[in-house]
Amino acid sequence: MEAVKNKEEWAAAPIGVFDSGVGGLTVAREIMRQIPNERIIYFGDTARVPYGSKSKETITRYSRQIVRFLQEQKVKAIVAACNTASAYALDEIEKELDIPIIGVVKPGAKVAAETTRNGRIGVIGTEGTIGSHIYSTYINEINKDIQVVEKACPLFVPLVEEGLWQDPVTDEIAARYLSVLTDSGIDTLILGCTHYPLIRSTVQKTVGGEVALVNPAYETARELKGLLEKENMLNNEKQGLGTERYRFYVSDMADKFRTFANSILKYGILSAKTINIENY
Ligand code: DGL
Repeated sequence: MEAVKNKEEWAAAPIGVFDSGVGGLTVAREIMRQIPNERIIYFGDTARVPYGSKSKETITRYSRQIVRFLQEQKVKAIVAACNTASAYALDEIEKELDIPIIGVVKPGAKVAAETTRNGRIGVIGTEGTIGSHIYSTYINEINKDIQVVEKACPLFVPLVEEGLWQDPVTDEIAARYLSVLTDSGIDTLILGCTHYPLIRSTVQKTVGGEVALVNPAYETARELKGLLEKENMLNNEKQGLGTERYRFYVSDMADKFRTFANSILKYGILSAKTINIENY
């Protein structure tokens, strides 16, 4: 913080957003919508995706490297737009930082607990997120009577990264993964991986229209906005339009990422830069 000269300059600093790949773009998209004056530096760890099948130690090391890179870019706050990193690394990294960092799990758990009517919530996510039981822990802290049914869906991330958002293969895998949830009578389902909103329609079709899907991205962006307001760090300056406000970095395959990002975001991305994250 010392490096920043004054409050206005600090408020104008970007927000760092990171994920293992393209999934965090679903959170970045929501931040762009809710607080459009903010600048964003996005990092997608495309060289090391997926995170969901790796250990807590590895994910914490990766997340620390990314946070160091983002701090070098002088961000004023960081969003871990990845459930796996939020579940595994957030608590530890938060203690080491002098800027705010928020994850996607707490906001998602909160909105799901508010949404359910029958007290049965499903959570789908990576093996890491589901294995950590972080959603059920947070939900039961809010209301211990809510029953949480968790299901890891490890093939969803590669399907999304391959662009198979609407495909018979994805339909088939969704049917296999999600039957345990529909059988247990949930009325609310948390998309506990930031890649999953991209296959939202497949998931909704599979679980049925009566199940409310919770995308933690919306609530995360709202929490970020509230935090920046409280700290007087909202960027009120009207800056250049669209793309000028956003910068994208990846650890591999920048062109593939750019094409992908352009199909998710409203603003066209002109470039994504590859960096060597192992240097951080
Ligand atoms: N999108 C991430 C998450 O929310 C990570 C998926 C992965 O890399 O396995 O967990």
